[in-house]
This record gives sequence, C-alpha cells and structure tokens, in this order.
Amino acid sequence: MQTNTSTKIAIITGGAKGIGLGIAQRFHQENYEVIILDRDKIALQECEAQLKDKNQYSFFLCDVSNYQQVTDTFNEIIVRFGRIDALINNAGVAVFKQVEEVTFQDWSNVMATNLNGPFLCSQAAFPALLLAQGSIVNIASISGVRASTLRVAYGTSKAALMHLTKQLAVEYGNQGVRVNAVAPGPVETDMAKLVHSADIRTSYKDAIPLARYGSIEEIANAVYFLCSPQASFINGQIIAVDGGFDAAGVGLPSLRE
Ligand SMILES: NC(=O)c1ccc[n+]([C@@H]2O[C@H](COP(=O)([O-])OP(=O)(O)OC[C@H]3O[C@@H](n4cnc5c(N)ncnc54)[C@H](O)[C@@H]3O)[C@@H](O)[C@H]2O)c1
Repeated sequence: MQTNTSTKIAIITGGAKGIGLGIAQRFHQENYEVIILDRDKIALQECEAQLKDKNQYSFFLCDVSNYQQVTDTFNEIIVRFGRIDALINNAGVAVFKQVEEVTFQDWSNVMATNLNGPFLCSQAAFPALLLAQGSIVNIASISGVRASTLRVAYGTSKAALMHLTKQLAVEYGNQGVRVNAVAPGPVETDMAKLVHSADIRTSYKDAIPLARYGSIEEIANAVYFLCSPQASFINGQIIAVDGGFDAAGVGLPSLRE
C-alpha cells in the first residue's frame, strides 16, 4: 500500500449527527479530508446537505457492527484515499433499562455496535494507520467509568471498550500507532434525548461539579488533541471529559446548599 495524497484523512464512525458530526467538523477545521461512516442513510443525507466545503468530506453508508460492510468500506477507502491518519470509533447506541428488562437482543445490539464495531474498524484501518503512523480514539462514556442504574448493557459495553483501548494501545503502540479513549459526560444529542429522563438529568447536575452538560465542541476538542502531535506520547489513556464527574464523591448537593 502507498499513500497517494499528502492531505491527512480522518474517519469518524457514526459521524452523521451528534458528537460524531462535531468531531468531523473539528478535523475539517484542521484541514483534514474527513470521511463520515454511518448506518442511517437519511441522517447521512441530512448531514451532507448541511455541511459547507462538501468536497472535503466523503460519506459511506456502513453499519460498523457488520463485518462484511466494514471490510468492504475500509477496502474502498484505502483504494480511494490511500491513507488513514485518524480513526474515531464514535458510533454508539444506548439502551437504558433495569437488568431484568434487558432482552438478550438489547444486550447483543449494544455490544455489536459499541464493542464489536470499534474492534472491526480498528482491525480494518490498522494497515493504513501503520503506514501513516496515525492514531485511534474510541468514544467511551462516564457510564463505562462508573457503574450506574439502568446501564447494564451500555455501561458494560463502554467499560469493555476502555479495555480494548488499552489492549490496542499496547499492541499497536508497539508499532507506532497510538490508541486512546475519551469518556464524555452527558452531552445534549439525540441519544441523550432518547435515554436521559428528567430524573437522570437532575442526577447528572447533582453529580457533576461543573453542574451542566458538556457541549459537542468540548468533546471534539479533546478527541482532536489526542490525535494531534501535541499528544505524541499519550497512549492507552482514557480522558474523562465530564465536568469532574469522575473526581467527585458524596456531598456535592449539600455543598451547594
Ligand atoms: N450524548 C451523550 O450524553 C453521550 C455521553 C457519553 C458518551 N456518548 C457516546 O458518544 C457517541 C456518540 O453519541 P451521540 O450522543 O452523538 O449519539 P447519536 O445517537 O446522536 O448519534 C450516533 C450516530 O451513530 C450512528 N450509529 C449508531 N449505530 C451505528 C452503527 N452500528 N454503525 C454506524 N453508525 C451507527 C447513528 O446512526 C447516529 O448517526 C456514542 O458512542 C455514545 O455512546 C454520548
């Protein structure tokens, strides 16, 4: 394989909306050619319609949990673009239910996208990442850092993704490809609208020292930093971008009274 362009290439999975779209725009600001993968055709079309400088973006319909689609998509990307400098495994799904109510299908769907997806995409991208000495960032969650109610499938998938990050950081890092993760706190996106009930929103405000949701831009900045030369000795780390949630113990609400 040979690189056939000097422009850096970033791939963002689940990039048609939400945090993924913000990450795509952040890399675009830094003059990357940005490749957005998503399994939602309508969201991909809407995203394409709203982006300026469309010639710096490419769009692929791809379900990251599907081995054949991932293989075909990355093969096509490598033939067309010849290099991959950054892979952002952002595509994720959430099911918030009590343990007894989580069906095996729910569990399997969450693991398929949140864990199998990053594994499959990292494997498929690795030869090109090796050539470019690029890096991977996995989008985990504070739900993988701390156990919480309703998150048996989601939280477990994200905790496993954090270990996958360390595992890949050891094996790929040994060959010059860095792998890190960002664990976001709550961010107002379609996913949050789907699973964050009024109770969950109140609990987050109580548990986060900065007492607010994060913005898409705040997550995207951390992801870009981890891929940049400024992070050249950072490998195998989970950076919580969570307003201090991971640092806090008991007592915050009473401190505020
Ligand atoms: N929003 C939050 O509060 C929050 C907090 C912590 C972590 N996260 C994580 O951030 C990431 C992005 O979340 P978001 O809030 O932007 O979600 P979102 O639902 O707004 O967007 C997710 C995108 O991923 C795509 N997607 C889902 N499954 C896919 C698959 N199998 N293949 C390809 N594309 C797929 C969807 O079509 C959608 O476009 C997820 O991994 C999520 O777990 C979100």
